[in-house]
Amino acid sequence: MDSQGKELAEPHLGSLFAGFGLDVEYTRASGNSLYRLDERGAEVEVLDATGGYGSLILGHHRPELVAEAKRLLDAGTPIHAQFSRRAEANEVAALLNTIVRRETGAAEDFTSIFANSGAEAIEVALKHAELERVVKLTALRDEIAADLDRARAAVLDGAAVVPEETWALLGLAGDDWDPAGGFDRLAAKVTSVNEAAFAAPPVFLTVEGSFHGKLAGSVQLTHNENFRLPFRALAAQARFIPFNDPGAIGKAVDEERVTALHLTVRDGAVTVGERVVPTLAAFVVEPILGEGGIREISPEFAREAQRVFAEAGCPIVLDEIQSGMGRTGSFFASSGIGLRGDYYALAKSLGGGIAKVSVVLLRVSRYQKAFEYVHSSTFAKDSFSSSLALKTLRLLEAEDGAAYRRAAERGAALAAMLERVREDFPEVVREVRGRGLMLGVEFRSQSDAVSGFIRAKYREGVFGWVASGYLLWEHGIRIAPTASASSTLRLEPSLYLTDAEIGRLDAALRALCSVLRNQDALHLLHP
Ligand code: F0G
Repeated sequence: MDSQGKELAEPHLGSLFAGFGLDVEYTRASGNSLYRLDERGAEVEVLDATGGYGSLILGHHRPELVAEAKRLLDAGTPIHAQFSRRAEANEVAALLNTIVRRETGAAEDFTSIFANSGAEAIEVALKHAELERVVKLTALRDEIAADLDRARAAVLDGAAVVPEETWALLGLAGDDWDPAGGFDRLAAKVTSVNEAAFAAPPVFLTVEGSFHGKLAGSVQLTHNENFRLPFRALAAQARFIPFNDPGAIGKAVDEERVTALHLTVRDGAVTVGERVVPTLAAFVVEPILGEGGIREISPEFAREAQRVFAEAGCPIVLDEIQSGMGRTGSFFASSGIGLRGDYYALAKSLGGGIAKVSVVLLRVSRYQKAFEYVHSSTFAKDSFSSSLALKTLRLLEAEDGAAYRRAAERGAALAAMLERVREDFPEVVREVRGRGLMLGVEFRSQSDAVSGFIRAKYREGVFGWVASGYLLWEHGIRIAPTASASSTLRLEPSLYLTDAEIGRLDAALRALCSVLRNQDALHLLHP
């Protein structure tokens, strides 16, 4: 059968976006611009404020990166050579280590594990955290087993007795005429309690509103139920902590506490104690929730998380996939907030908008060497993506971090414009949020709007997409809502954003605000 002309690549999504006028095919890209062809075949420029959802900190086709990609191909650089020495990847790891140590003041190195996408980086972090946990669990199990054997030997050779309170604590009746048989009953009870405790599934803690990817494991940490619930049987469930509620962190950790029984001999008596079973695998958090509406972790929440998880010995995984790579004015957004991680996940802009690459930085004191054998990918660490990541990092680090200062300055200019729009349309714009070039504009509820169309679209949860369609068709601006908070538009342009581009965004957003103020729904219907 001839399948020419059929839409077979995610056809449903295509028709959904067509409804908002967003099913545009772009034919060229450069800097902050995308180009499409109109009906007559003429190129039409579109200002890209979405910036690849955070993957274009250096814009589309940054000339230095295009030149690097061409150089690699022209030179015949071997791209696929898994399990050989990969010099470029090593240089990326070394540079990332320098950056993370500089920004966090860490006294130790960070090792890099390479992967292909943001979600895969999170899977790497989850698996590594679980490996750490299993190693701790095995050590605890061995220690408890060894002490139990020691207690048995002491009872059998008469060096120790099992006192009444030990029997009582275990809910058993004492047996003073048959030490051996009695001890076996005791041991059986301890073992059965402990086996249940050791089998407890790992607990991953994260924050309500989080987005950590859509693979089988990572989607369990993505809060949006539409993405997560159909797949809940596939992997460990996460526990979601209310956003920026510091008191909820310790409470969650306490409620997840599981203990095992530990027999020891003290002063000739077998005593029973409790040991905390390492069920907590990791706390995974975006310093600034991206897809969840551009909401920043508060310093109080960060401080409390730091305290609680250090005490619990549980690693903090900072998902900097969207917020990292200099977008917020420092390489890591968490540095600006004062949050320190044990693992850092990077993806999106790491490939310079050309390659697909992600990496997880792991504190060496937590690093599990065995991980390198149990996680790998045909594509990870390939020299094409590693070289582009290296070039991207070098561009960001050049001139003593001029790019970070530029992101802060451009972000401040953009935020000031957005804030002025909010001041002029307070009944339409609720809040402007974010840091650097990771900004969100939240619109007020339209659920009681005068216009039936606007009201209906708001109630359907697609207001942000309708607004995006309008901005594209009326003003030539590509912008998108944060998927799980659809009345927030997110702006993540490159750090080469010009004043003229800010001016275009200003005019377009003001026009959108006027449409909403006047409830002029006709303007929102795309041609
Ligand atoms: N973590 C964060 C913080 C993200 O924003 C994303 C993707 C991922 C992980 C997954 O990365 O797509 O490369 O597998 N965020 C996009 C968004 C989809 O809408 O913000 P991926």
